[in-house]
Amino acid sequence: MSPPTSPLRLVLASANPDKAREIAVILDGALDGRVELLARPPEVPDVAETSDSLEGNAALKASALRAATGTGAVADDSGLEVDALGGAPGVRSARYAGPRATYRDNVAKLLSALEQAGARAPEERTARFRTVAVAILEDGRELACSGVVEGRIVDRPRGEGGFGYDPVFAPDDGGGLTFGELDPEAKHAVSARGRAFRSLAAALLAEISSPGTGDASPRSPDHGTLRR
Ligand code: IMP
Repeated sequence: MSPPTSPLRLVLASANPDKAREIAVILDGALDGRVELLARPPEVPDVAETSDSLEGNAALKASALRAATGTGAVADDSGLEVDALGGAPGVRSARYAGPRATYRDNVAKLLSALEQAGARAPEERTARFRTVAVAILEDGRELACSGVVEGRIVDRPRGEGGFGYDPVFAPDDGGGLTFGELDPEAKHAVSARGRAFRSLAAALLAEISSPGTGDASPRSPDHGTLRR
């Protein structure tokens, strides 16, 4: 039987399978079956992340997938900000060690940059992941939510879980374990992506139950719109 409100359909814009898997798990848990998530069609080309902000890049990805599919789309952009490195790698986290950098290359560059900066004590290695999650609905309404998790960069990679910088990031609420050592549920409970997408899910459900009464608004061509 159909649910009382018509289900919203959203294409998951991420081309990174590690991220897409996490987003699907987080949204499935938070949306209660009221939004249907569709996989990104493989024929859609990668979207160039040309913005200098996480929000700009997330909106670029969602907007490109909406244009390519005619369906609403959801995307995120995330970055790791390390205080001793002036906020680097930040929006350049994926390409920190070069345009074709692997996760391992990026982690190696991060550890060596901290070493060079003389940041060896845990209190000198404070950092945070920041995620901006954006949904652009089929009719152009746009929702954006952000999430942050504070933590520290540990001195060597630990754990096989997660992806990216997870083996060297220990969240403040993680009992000293890195995201690579925590199980996925424990990571999602505190991660920047978990926080951003749970907020986005709540915003989407509010928008579905009372269209137009939330903060969503049609996306204008030259600047961002709704911010939550
Ligand atoms: P993106 O631009 O959002 O695709 O992410 C940028 C880069 O940040 C990724 O390539 C990963 O290296 C890293 N990253 C993003 N999210 C996470 C995470 O949850 N854990 C660890 N690294 C992440």
